[in-house]
Amino acid sequence: MTDAVVAEGLVKRYPGVTALDGLDLHVRQGSVSAVLGPNGAGKTTALRILTTLLRADAGHASVAGFDVASRPQAVRQVIGVSGQYAAVDEYLTGFENLDMVGRLYHLGRGRSRERARELLARFRLDEGGDRVTRTYSGGMRRRLDLAAALMAHPPVLFLDEPTTGLDPRSRADMWEIIRDLVGHGCSLLLTTQNLEEADLLADEIVVIDRGSTIAAGTADELKDQIGGDRLEIVLHEASDLPRAAEVLRPMGIGEPALDDRRRRLQLAVGRRQVLVDAVRRLDSEQIALTDAGVRRPTLDDVFLALTGRSAPPEAARSSVGPERPDRTPTPDRAER
Ligand SMILES: Nc1ncnc2c1ncn2[C@@H]1O[C@H](COP(=O)(O)OP(=O)(O)OP(=O)(O)O)[C@@H](O)[C@H]1O
Ligand SMILES: [Mg+2]
Repeated sequence: MTDAVVAEGLVKRYPGVTALDGLDLHVRQGSVSAVLGPNGAGKTTALRILTTLLRADAGHASVAGFDVASRPQAVRQVIGVSGQYAAVDEYLTGFENLDMVGRLYHLGRGRSRERARELLARFRLDEGGDRVTRTYSGGMRRRLDLAAALMAHPPVLFLDEPTTGLDPRSRADMWEIIRDLVGHGCSLLLTTQNLEEADLLADEIVVIDRGSTIAAGTADELKDQIGGDRLEIVLHEASDLPRAAEVLRPMGIGEPALDDRRRRLQLAVGRRQVLVDAVRRLDSEQIALTDAGVRRPTLDDVFLALTGRSAPPEAARSSVGPERPDRTPTPDRAER
């Protein structure tokens, strides 16, 4: 079976910056792939090329078997896109926004209105459906934008950071909606800066940095590559850190990382249950603890392990600001 999405050696250069530097990725039919990377890694650029909004300088890509450069119209017929910044018309109601997209896809008046109502209900927007979207919260806008992407039942969906900027409740809502979509047979490519999200939603994760793929695999394969869970111990006295490192080193994978200022030791420990054992060992050496825990690896851990440096901090920004609307390419409304 052809992959739903294939990208090989994609390159995109802007003056002074190489946004994509030979990016490879694949999405199997009916599966979810997450592109995980920090700010500026090239996630949006990759999505814009795959959704025909931008041309690559080199490399090739296809969606549902159609080459994005030579068959952009055919690609647009089979995709739904929800951009990083929700692209809803502020002066239309939720219902009108969806109906407009339905008409652009030539669903026909009756079918378009019916589908709009169906999606408003499914995304818990029926109450807001007759209100202008100017009055919507960020979470409501993102849900409406995703609903718009689904109007024409596209078999391949692209979601650019679908939960960035959402509060925990709206984020959980969005996760539920996305999981439900995939249950219905869609192939999905999403981008995220959040390893937990990629782990929760995706069958395959592609980690990108400075425009190229630095790791790919299932969440478990990736965690094995980066050493899995993190044991974190905070000591009473920073001066005990070297001794604690000696005691705990055999339990982990690689070297313990010591942070004098926070009196903290961190150690990659795979997927083993080590907490009780670690506390006992430190206790028997009479090393006093303030705190101890095991946590899941974050994007920052992935970057440290794979590149030897931290991921750039997540910029404080809204995912719903109007400053860079990424419009859904429809058969009649596509930019290049
Ligand atoms: N139109 C453009 N002109 C010049 N440089 C650009 C343009 N679009 C993107 N870039 C640059 O290309 C690089 C990749 O940008 P891109 O938006 O793809 O990153 P991203 O992974 O989506 O980041 P974020 O998480 O912040 O959304 C960045 O260095 C960015 O500044
Ligand atoms: Mg982006």
